[in-house]
Amino acid sequence: MTLLEPGRWYAVAADHDLVANHIYRTTLGGHDLALWRARDGTVCVWHDRCPHRGVRLSLGEVVGNELRCQYHAWRFGTGGACTFIPAQPDRKVPGAIHATVWPMAQASGLIWTGIDPVGAPPALPDGAVIRAIPIDRCAEDLERAIDGAALPALALTIQPCTADRAIVRGAATDGDLVRADQALLALRRRLEAGA
Ligand code: FES
Repeated sequence: MTLLEPGRWYAVAADHDLVANHIYRTTLGGHDLALWRARDGTVCVWHDRCPHRGVRLSLGEVVGNELRCQYHAWRFGTGGACTFIPAQPDRKVPGAIHATVWPMAQASGLIWTGIDPVGAPPALPDGAVIRAIPIDRCAEDLERAIDGAALPALALTIQPCTADRAIVRGAATDGDLVRADQALLALRRRLEAGA
């Protein structure tokens, strides 16, 4: 079963999750992702595996405009290409060595990606992005529950993580973050109780 709809954008982080020198790790549709922001502001969404030996890139380090893998310290530029192999400092790095780069868009205070996403991410009403809430239910259940729920002044995005886990993010469109947060927590309690 595929959890992701090709052509669709999914929010996978808030802008504020990508802090300097930090690599943010998340999962979308069973795919592990590593998100990071280079010093020049470029935001990268990559498969969370080094093309060398498959170590998680999210364990690595952001060095200026590059990500350095923790294991053998290979470095990758924001386009995903390997730029430096410490064990072979004098050799040109073969162009085929590349991190797997996912599409990326920034909109409404969120970072979006997907499989061959079409057009621009959905426009959310203006509003602060509040914290992401993981819920141990599949994204489809969550979408159904949200459709039928009274959640005034909340704009929601759903990130399908795995077959039984999703993350919901909400933007409080009236600026009342406390009420929005409480509404999301109540929704989680209801869903995890099987309602
Ligand atoms: S596993 Fe990443 S550099 Fe070797």
